[in-house]
Amino acid sequence: MCGRGTISGMKSVICNWKMNPPTFTEAKRLFDVTKKLAAVYKNAEVVIAPPTIFLRELAKGYRGTRVEFSAQNIFWEESGSFTGETSSIQVRDAGATYVIIGHAERRALGITDENVQHKVPVSLKGKLDPIVAVGERVRDTHGEYVHEVRNQITTALANVPASKFKNITIAYEPVWSIGAPEAPDTNSVHQMMLLVRKTIADAFGEKKMKSIRVIYGGAVNNENAKDILSVPDLDGVLVGRASLDPYRLEAILQAAHDA
Ligand code: 13P
Repeated sequence: MCGRGTISGMKSVICNWKMNPPTFTEAKRLFDVTKKLAAVYKNAEVVIAPPTIFLRELAKGYRGTRVEFSAQNIFWEESGSFTGETSSIQVRDAGATYVIIGHAERRALGITDENVQHKVPVSLKGKLDPIVAVGERVRDTHGEYVHEVRNQITTALANVPASKFKNITIAYEPVWSIGAPEAPDTNSVHQMMLLVRKTIADAFGEKKMKSIRVIYGGAVNNENAKDILSVPDLDGVLVGRASLDPYRLEAILQAAHDA
């Protein structure tokens, strides 16, 4: 691995391609652009989460050290009769060193907090660093969303061995900001970074909280990246749409490099 930000101080940019682009040829083209940008903006940690079908082929041809690969999902069992699922061991074998667990788009398809709890230790055992996605569905005025996010975090991390907290990234992605035209303001992002950290400190202790990385995702783009990446207590960003567009991606990587 090219060095986690906690140790190096680098900001992470995790490119979640979701179910894009449509063909391998286009995926290779996007990868080549991302790879070149990663070589320029050396002070940012760059992780690409391509569709699983493209993962091995992209990782196989890559000889550099500037880009790491993530899976977008894994199953909570290591092998067996689970049609359509992919295991931690399989995606690690294909070249991934990270995995996104509990993305809002998986939760919308039925993944529960308990499923996420099972997947986290399985990913660690399979030598994948989990990027655990949490975030409220709606922002209510009674503060219910605070309980929702705290509960997602404490449930997800309940079975993590003490020595493995340093391998965890929490990605705070409020559902209402994913695919939205605009991200929340930077004050709000900062408050949620603090809430995530306080939740971990309360439940698992200060030392473990300090070793964990906390990033923000949802409508990060070329226009807001600089402001978001300047938010204190934030270790990086998880990017959807803008990671598919070289122009917007470059601005984000530059902002991460400069932050
Ligand atoms: P957008 O950046 O397209 O809003 O998507 C965010 C996301 O879900 C990243 O995982």
